[in-house]
Amino acid sequence: MDKKEFDNFFKPYSKNVDNANKHGFWKLSDTLITQIIKDNIPVEIDENVVILDAGGGTGRWVCDLSKIYKSNFVIYDMSIDMLIKAKENIRNTNIENRVKLIEGDLRNMKSLKSESIDYIISIYSPISFIYEKEKAFSELFRVLKRGGKIIIMGHGFYNALASKINNYFANIKELELLDNKQIIKWGEHVPELNLFSKEIIENDLKQTGFILVKTYGVPVFVQPGSEDFDPKNATKSKISAALEHNDFFNKVFELEMKYNSQSTIANRGMNIFSVAVKQ
Ligand SMILES: C[S@@+](CC[C@H](N)C(=O)[O-])C[C@H]1O[C@@H](n2cnc3c(N)ncnc32)[C@H](O)[C@@H]1O
Repeated sequence: MDKKEFDNFFKPYSKNVDNANKHGFWKLSDTLITQIIKDNIPVEIDENVVILDAGGGTGRWVCDLSKIYKSNFVIYDMSIDMLIKAKENIRNTNIENRVKLIEGDLRNMKSLKSESIDYIISIYSPISFIYEKEKAFSELFRVLKRGGKIIIMGHGFYNALASKINNYFANIKELELLDNKQIIKWGEHVPELNLFSKEIIENDLKQTGFILVKTYGVPVFVQPGSEDFDPKNATKSKISAALEHNDFFNKVFELEMKYNSQSTIANRGMNIFSVAVKQ
């Protein structure tokens, strides 16, 4: 993907992404991610701790997490449109003194010193947009302190395969490409994305030098409807409508959290979310 294609995709995306979690499916997915972060980064950390949001986009995660953690944050992203929105969100949340915004490529994080970061989060799969993913993994390893932890998400391989079969009846050539290269194209204007199984992401992390802690699927049981991908968030799927009922939402959340890190279940994930440490 060249920079022009990249910018053309993220310019409109930056305008809409912050409203996505009004709908049930995304609200559930975001709630699961928040719980997984809280289970892996202690809520007691203080203001000397630095959390890097790699591919942090509009800063929506940093804004939410700043209410849970007293720490400082770095948002590192290559899209100027996402960062313009991040600046606005950070000002509105009144956390300008705790957040540093950096425009740059995760494959070469030259403005970040080695071993300067305590925790890395990377949500909704920035790594799936990066074709030389080994460079990004090794940069993330470099900037993390010893004893530091990374929680990183990639687009799920098996779920993508299931979706292309069941929702798109994809042609044989497309399915073979997907299977052989672990790359997917969801639509004409969506860049090709790298896919990750639990085994692929764990192997990538191990090859880089990380020690694996745990891998989750997010979500593992709930399947989005096509309406949940409406870029303007105007349409609503049946599952998103059903999740507006609190009892149902809470039970589904409980079931997801009960099983989402079991080794036989994690690969059901629409996204694969791995936790690893640098020793
Ligand atoms: C799907 S968005 C997710 C944004 C944010 N993490 C969230 O959950 O809302 C992926 C993000 O990865 C960023 N990204 C993709 N490739 C990148 C690269 N090589 N270097 C830095 N950021 C990148 C994009 O600009 C975008 O903000």
